[in-house]
Amino acid sequence: MVQTADTAEIRRGLAGVVVDYTAISKVNPDTNSLLYRGYPVQELAARCSFEEVAHLLWHGELPLAEQLAAFERQERAVRALDPVVKRVVDELPTTSHPMDVCRTAASVLGARDPRARDPRAGDSSREANLAKAVDLFAAMPAVVAYDQRRRRGEDLVEPRADLGYSANFLWMTFGVEPAPEVIRAFEVSMILYAEHSFNASTFTARVVTSTLSDLHSAVTTAIGALKGPLHGGANEAVMETFEEIGIDPDESHEDAKARAKAWMDNALAQKKKVMGFGHRVYKHGDSRVPTMKAALDDLITYYRRPEILGLYDGLEQSMDEAKGIKPNLDYPTGPAYHLMGFDIPTFTPLFVASRIVGWTAHIMEQLENNSLIRPLSAYNGPDERHLD
Ligand SMILES: CC(C)(COP(=O)(O)OP(=O)(O)OC[C@H]1O[C@@H](n2cnc3c(N)ncnc32)[C@H](O)[C@@H]1OP(=O)(O)O)[C@@H](O)C(=O)NCCC(=O)NCCS
Repeated sequence: MVQTADTAEIRRGLAGVVVDYTAISKVNPDTNSLLYRGYPVQELAARCSFEEVAHLLWHGELPLAEQLAAFERQERAVRALDPVVKRVVDELPTTSHPMDVCRTAASVLGARDPRARDPRAGDSSREANLAKAVDLFAAMPAVVAYDQRRRRGEDLVEPRADLGYSANFLWMTFGVEPAPEVIRAFEVSMILYAEHSFNASTFTARVVTSTLSDLHSAVTTAIGALKGPLHGGANEAVMETFEEIGIDPDESHEDAKARAKAWMDNALAQKKKVMGFGHRVYKHGDSRVPTMKAALDDLITYYRRPEILGLYDGLEQSMDEAKGIKPNLDYPTGPAYHLMGFDIPTFTPLFVASRIVGWTAHIMEQLENNSLIRPLSAYNGPDERHLD
C-alpha cells in the first residue's frame, strides 16, 4: 500500500519500532538489564577479559582455553599500525576530530584488506568477515593511540605482544606500563561499550550491510553515526561539562559537588540538554552505569581525586531531583578516561575501538538472514504541479 502523509502512522526516530530479531544482546529497560548472548554484562565485566567477551559476541559462546589462546595469537600478530594508514593519518590536519581519523582509517583498512574485492565476488562469507573483524579489532587501538600521540607531538609506540588488549592499548597511548587498577577500569569500559542492540550506529551498520555492501563500509559509516553527541559523542561532552564547571584537584568533594549542583540548576533553568543523561531505551537508569561507576570510584581512589566525584555526584543528584533523569554509560566513562590521561577528543574513538565488536557481530547476523532495509516515508511536499 502506498502511504501518504494522511494515512501513515509516523514513528519519528523509529521510537518503539521493532525492526528485526537479534540473538546478540538483550536490553531490558524494565529490569535495567543488559545480556550479551544471555550473560548479564555485569558478570562478564567482573570475570572476563575483553577478548573473551569479543569471542562471545562473535561466536555466541565464551571461548575454550585453546580458542582464546588462538584468538589472542591472531590478534596480537596484527596490532601494529599499518604503514599506509600511518601515512594517511599523518596527512590529516590535527584540527580534524579524532573520529574523522578513525573513520578514515577504517576506510583505508578496508581498501587495503586482501579480502576486500568486489562484494559480488562473495568475500562477505562469515569466515572472511570474522577475519576482517579480528583485523579491525586489533588495528583500531594503534590508530586511536597514535592519533592522540601525534597531536601531542609524540612518536609512535609499537605494540607489545606480551600484553593483553587493554594493557597494550594503554601502553601504545602513553608509552608506560599501566597500573593494574587502570587496566581493569579500561577493560570494564571496553566490555560495557561493546554492544547495545539496535542503537543508531549499529542500525547504520545493518542498513549498509543489508545492501550487500562490505564489512569495512558498514563499520566506516557506523563510526560516522557514533560521532554525534546524541550517541557516542556524549562521553566527550560530559567531560567538557566538567571542564566548564571547572576542575580543581585541590578542591574538596563537598565544594565541587555544590558548584556542580549550582551549574546544573542553572543549565536546567535555561532548558539545556545536559549530555550524559537520558536514554532512548532506558527510562529508569542505564544498566551499565553501576558497573562503570564502580570502576570510576576505583580510579578516583587510585588517583586521589575526590573533587571529580564531587562534580559527578553534584550533577547526578541535581538532575535526579529536578527531572528524575538518570545518567547513561557516557557519564562515568567521560571522567574515567580523563583520569587515565586520555585527551577529551580521544574518548569517542575509544568507544569505536570497543563497539567494533558489536557492529561486526551485527553485520554477520544481518547477512545470515538478510532483507534490504528500506522504510517508507510520507510525502508532505507540494501537490503535483507542472512547468508552464
Ligand atoms: C539520549 C536522548 C537522545 C534520548 O532521547 P529521547 O528518548 O528522544 O528522549 P527525549 O529527548 O524525548 O526526552 C524526554 C524529556 O526528557 C528531557 N531530557 C532527556 N534527556 C535530557 C538531558 N540529557 N538533559 C536535559 N533534559 C533531558 C527532554 O528535554 C524531554 O523533556 P520534555 O518532555 O520536557 O521536552 C536524550 O536523553 C539526550 O539527548 N541525552 C543527552 C545525550 C546523551 O547523553 N546521549 C548518549 C546516549 S547513550
